[in-house]
Amino acid sequence: MSDITLNAPKLFDLRGQVALVTGAGSGIGQRIAIGLAQCGADVALLDRRSDDGLANTASHIEAAGRRFLQIAADVTSKSSLAEAVARTEAELGALTLAVNAAGIANAKPAEEMEEDQYQTLMDINLKGVFLSCQAEARAMLKNGRGSIVNIASMSGVIVNRGLSQAHYNASKAGVIHMSKSLAMEWVGRGIRVNTISPGYTATPMNTRPEMVHQTKLFEEQTPMQRMATVDEMVGPAVFLLSNAASFVTGVDLLVDGGFCCW
Ligand SMILES: NC(=O)c1ccc[n+]([C@@H]2O[C@H](COP(=O)([O-])OP(=O)(O)OC[C@H]3O[C@@H](n4cnc5c(N)ncnc54)[C@H](O)[C@@H]3O)[C@@H](O)[C@H]2O)c1
Repeated sequence: MSDITLNAPKLFDLRGQVALVTGAGSGIGQRIAIGLAQCGADVALLDRRSDDGLANTASHIEAAGRRFLQIAADVTSKSSLAEAVARTEAELGALTLAVNAAGIANAKPAEEMEEDQYQTLMDINLKGVFLSCQAEARAMLKNGRGSIVNIASMSGVIVNRGLSQAHYNASKAGVIHMSKSLAMEWVGRGIRVNTISPGYTATPMNTRPEMVHQTKLFEEQTPMQRMATVDEMVGPAVFLLSNAASFVTGVDLLVDGGFCCW
């Protein structure tokens, strides 16, 4: 065997890295932000919510002994994203990691859907991810390295039985393919781009009134017979962002309890 310098646990070590997480005030983005801090990263937390969501995330990051920044911003605003990245770099250091989890979901039969319902969702879920990646990559290209994870959905791969959400499904398919495209644009310049496609996950998104009756069905339809917890998205995100995935780019990692096998 050749000379072994392998140190496997160190592959997942994020100390010395600076991350920006969108949608960090709730659900999947919130838990991933906390997880990144626990692995050693300093984290800028971006969300548009005005409640104590971001402060709640921040308190966990403080408890992990890492630095943080709370940024109230909307991912549909290119200038706000540029400002967020600039503030992150000024206050925490060179940006090397990003997770784009901000997103919304709603449903309506296609034949009844108003144009603005369609457009608003697309602006946040697809254009918002593009603008976030663009702002983040501009800094990462300057820094010579970076890793981006976009939160897509298994809805970008399959059509959820019983849910009339053509616009949402299309936005997530768009995130998956756009991320592969960005991965290839930046492949020679030190930036990796991957997606995580969660299956049904227990977050506020799934406790909105029109969804509550669906929860039991979601569990029954999932081969593992349950929804994911938000914590189950943290390991995949740390993996894809870290050196453990140094040869992984343009990949969509389904984290769906086996859903897409059936
Ligand atoms: N929960 C699920 O079952 C599930 C499954 C697959 C994919 N996803 C995806 O995971 C991501 C996170 O969802 P979640 O379930 O944690 O939802 P969530 O509602 O708990 O969190 C989403 C966060 O994004 C923020 N956000 C929404 N629009 C924004 C905007 N324009 N600018 C800035 N912040 C904005 C919200 O304020 C919220 O804090 C979404 O992209 C969602 O589509 C969720």
